[in-house]
Amino acid sequence: MSFRIAPSLLAADFLHLEKDIELVNKCGDVIHLDVMDGTLVPNISFGFSVIDQLSKIATAPMDAHLMVVHPERWFEKLAKDGVQMCSFHYEAAGRNTSRFIKQIQDLGMKAGVAINPDVPVSKLFPYIGKADYFLIMSVFAGFGGQKFIYESIDRVAELKAEIDRRGAKAIIEIDGGINMDTVKAVREAGVELAVAGSSVYGAADPAAAIAALREA
Ligand code: DX5
Ligand code: ZN
Repeated sequence: MSFRIAPSLLAADFLHLEKDIELVNKCGDVIHLDVMDGTLVPNISFGFSVIDQLSKIATAPMDAHLMVVHPERWFEKLAKDGVQMCSFHYEAAGRNTSRFIKQIQDLGMKAGVAINPDVPVSKLFPYIGKADYFLIMSVFAGFGGQKFIYESIDRVAELKAEIDRRGAKAIIEIDGGINMDTVKAVREAGVELAVAGSSVYGAADPAAAIAALREA
């Protein structure tokens, strides 16, 4: 099982985004892009005026995390920008979840389904075998720098057990409060892609922070 780190640009230096993208190109694995609409989550981040520009210099794969009420409006645009992974929230999609997964995959991207900490993991089970990945939020979506919710470890393990039981291939991504204190436990529980915002961009040496998280 591989283990990769996705620095979250939400914690980057917005006055010098080029530098922070280059860091992931060189030292990270995946560029995590948090798109928020102020409705599904209580915050607004950035949109296509930023992503269009970033896509020109990103060589690491881009992973869009859509925290918006109508994610389907943006799939095509993200694919055009060369985004490789696109996740949306089950809370926003509900009964459209299977349809959205297929739309994302038909556009050539990997499709992910995300859930907040208060959504039972079993809600994801119908999409095992369909989604390419699942994003378990280990904080409530909306802000960087929050404290890791420890129940998330059991939630990852529960999902991982069900994926394995069915012999499916989906990977598990985790997002929120990942740092040197929490990364090992989530990795052991079955996470293969860990998002890290403040613990990377807030570190004195972000490149070393990424390496340390990956090796933890
Ligand atoms: C929060 C975002 C996260 C955020 C993580 O809603 O989805 O990607 O940037 O930040 P940290 O790693 O600081 O918890
Ligand atoms: Zn995120």
